Amino acid sequence: MKKKVIIDCDPGYDDALALMLAFGSDELQVEAVTTCAGNQTQEMVYTNAKRLIKLMGAKTIVAPGALKPLSRGLVTASSVHGETGMDGVDLPDEDIGEIKSCAVDIMADIIEKSDEKIILIPTGPLTNIALLLSIYPHLKEKIELISLMGGACNGGNVTACAEFNIYVDPEAADIVFKSGVPIVMSGLDVTHKAVIYKEEMDIFGTIGNASGNAAFQILQNYYKFYSQHTDLNGAVMHDACAVAYVMNPEIFECKDCHIDVETKGEHTTGQTVVDIGDKRGNGINAKIAMNIDKEALMKMMYSSISRLL
Ligand code: RIB
Ligand code: CA
Repeated sequence: MKKKVIIDCDPGYDDALALMLAFGSDELQVEAVTTCAGNQTQEMVYTNAKRLIKLMGAKTIVAPGALKPLSRGLVTASSVHGETGMDGVDLPDEDIGEIKSCAVDIMADIIEKSDEKIILIPTGPLTNIALLLSIYPHLKEKIELISLMGGACNGGNVTACAEFNIYVDPEAADIVFKSGVPIVMSGLDVTHKAVIYKEEMDIFGTIGNASGNAAFQILQNYYKFYSQHTDLNGAVMHDACAVAYVMNPEIFECKDCHIDVETKGEHTTGQTVVDIGDKRGNGINAKIAMNIDKEALMKMMYSSISRLL
């Protein structure tokens, strides 16, 4: 039986690869893709999501969500993903029409009407998820799991201690981690072990379909950022980890923990304070992924992309 999921994303190079992993999988039924401003503005990420769905030949609802974080100005990652959010990647044109923000209602409607519990897979800032949980709290019991990409036990990629998705909307993340809904957090600790190295990228270009060609372009462009700004000789598959956990949790090593989100610190806002083993006795509210079988992830990605258009 396929697991019913909703992917809330901000494509974005690695979001795009995560969508390919999900739509080409045997394990997931993607009920909807919703978009959240993050890597780029809502207009850009929604446009990219629609164009990616068309590229893959996928069929699902695509709905735009938050234009900005709950209580802060939007910080984008144009230095990473470019002015369009998908710079340097050939995607089919798609008539977007007028953008009416409706992701939260679409998510609520799907969850309400589903006979089974739904799994949420956020791979961008958590604004839409926080709004869903705040506006429709009765739906929490119908959410099986939130498998999110964000945060870190140690370090950050926007500040010394904050990861981008949490940093953009820490108030939203605080709501999500206090919600009581089961959470698996794929933070930088595990995503930096899911690096596709330069010499491993060519294989995606040999798949021979439009999605494989796009994946190769994405990796080349994403690599450009990492090679110029870090000592990594590859591209980090951040968002694919959140999808892969739902498909195949066995390839991960996770630890029970209590996670708090810093929303006020002058130097630490956006930090996920991860108390592994809940030493302070605040109650386990999440699992944190700390290790991944990267070869298994690569095989899953290759297999999924091979099944797309
Ligand atoms: O920190 C990495 C995260 O921020 C990924 O989700 C990437 O797409 C960006 O949104
Ligand atoms: Ca993302």
